[in-house]
Amino acid sequence: MSKVVVISGTPGTGKTTVASILAKKIKGIHIDLSNLVLKEKLYKEVDEKRETVIADLDKLLPKLREIIRSANSPIIIEGHYAEIVPSKFVNVAIILRTHPKELEKRLKKKNFKESKIRENIQAEILGVCSYNALNAYEKEKIYEIDTTSKTPNETVNIILEILEGKGENYKIGKIDWLAVLEKEGTLSYFFE
Ligand SMILES: Nc1ncnc2c1ncn2[C@@H]1O[C@H](COP(=O)(O)OP(=O)(O)O)[C@@H](O)[C@H]1O
Ligand SMILES: [Mg+2]
Repeated sequence: MSKVVVISGTPGTGKTTVASILAKKIKGIHIDLSNLVLKEKLYKEVDEKRETVIADLDKLLPKLREIIRSANSPIIIEGHYAEIVPSKFVNVAIILRTHPKELEKRLKKKNFKESKIRENIQAEILGVCSYNALNAYEKEKIYEIDTTSKTPNETVNIILEILEGKGENYKIGKIDWLAVLEKEGTLSYFFE
């Protein structure tokens, strides 16, 4: 079975950008879960208010299993709910993190509406994707990278180091935006 790398993170942290560069570098298969779900109609309903679809895991998981079982090259699966990929298939899980202020800029650039920017920034501050990964995978498999002042290429190089077993500095648990924002005195700005 091929090696599977899961990349999760709040929207705007850089999953798609990083996964596509990484896939080219390691000649891997890049799976963007949101795209796959839309393209193959693997959703159960459309959430009009939040302008998103709700993936149907009964359809999505068999599809992923099929892709993983038939692949001859490494697979990079990315999405903000990538922890749905069953642990037994996953070699490494990477969570991309971004300082809330920078994330706000990136999401504005992506033309997200105000309420969605707010929801995503709050999720990033509370570490929702990291929490979900911890519930899904053994801690030893999970790494976090702060992309705030890195380029996509630098982020990819760190992932390559992690894949070579040199990811000690990126083990999950070191990034805490709550503490950072409290120190900066900006926490209330994001929750008012
Ligand atoms: N270190 C970095 N890693 C990844 N993306 C970055 C980085 N720095 C800036 N960016 C920018 O942030 C944006 C991330 O968008 P995208 O890759 O679509 O995120 P996601 O798939 O997580 O929603 C891109 O415009 C990308 O160029
Ligand atoms: Mg994306």
